[in-house]
Amino acid sequence: NTLSRIVVAVDGPSGSGKSSVSRGVAAKLGLRYLDTGAQYRAVTYWMLQNKVDLADPAAIAVDAAVPAIVSGTDPGAPAITVDGEDVAAAIREADVTGAVSAVAAVPAVRARLIALQREIIGAGGIVVEGRDIAAVVAPDAAAKVFLTASEDARARRRNTENGGGSGTVAATREALTRRDTVDNRTNALAAAPGAIVVDATELTLEQVIDKVAGIVIHAAAGA
Ligand code: DC
Repeated sequence: NTLSRIVVAVDGPSGSGKSSVSRGVAAKLGLRYLDTGAQYRAVTYWMLQNKVDLADPAAIAVDAAVPAIVSGTDPGAPAITVDGEDVAAAIREADVTGAVSAVAAVPAVRARLIALQREIIGAGGIVVEGRDIAAVVAPDAAAKVFLTASEDARARRRNTENGGGSGTVAATREALTRRDTVDNRTNALAAAPGAIVVDATELTLEQVIDKVAGIVIHAAAGA
């Protein structure tokens, strides 16, 4: 496993800082980057646009493979399109965030996106961020990291990302906990076998990036 062909799995709950950390590690080590959450969000965006009944898993399954999803892998400029439309900003809107757990719970959606993710991973040289990367998508990944942080730290981070004031941290925390509970039914939000747990609660972003990059370099040297 040379560094240039390594597969790095970064899993963890929402608000743990997975995206910033994964992008930072990929940029630092010259690797590609894949945000699998963005793909689930892109499918959800398409389902909302096309008025699919998201309370009906069978309706979601029927259209699971219809939207054409293209993910860029440049950590400096994460890009994603649905049927050719740039949806990088739209998939972060509250309507998508509120609906994505229901879409991600549908097996046909997961099967389709997991196949796409494996295709993009290809020969490696990539940091892949998600929930089920180490356990399902890339069980042979040479480096597996489970990134976590206290609920308070995750709520504060997510709130800042959303541009919210301090008064709404409690509401953000509640929304996060609710989404984690739903996500947890699909993917256990726990470290996969062989994953190294990194707790970001007391660390700066730079410190977490350094720590994870160290884990990756060690894994590349060891295999
Ligand atoms: O990481 P995120 O918030 O962008 O993820 C969006 C949703 O997609 C989240 O509810 C969990 C789900 N997801 C998943 O089920 N499997 C993945 N590999 C990545 C995300």
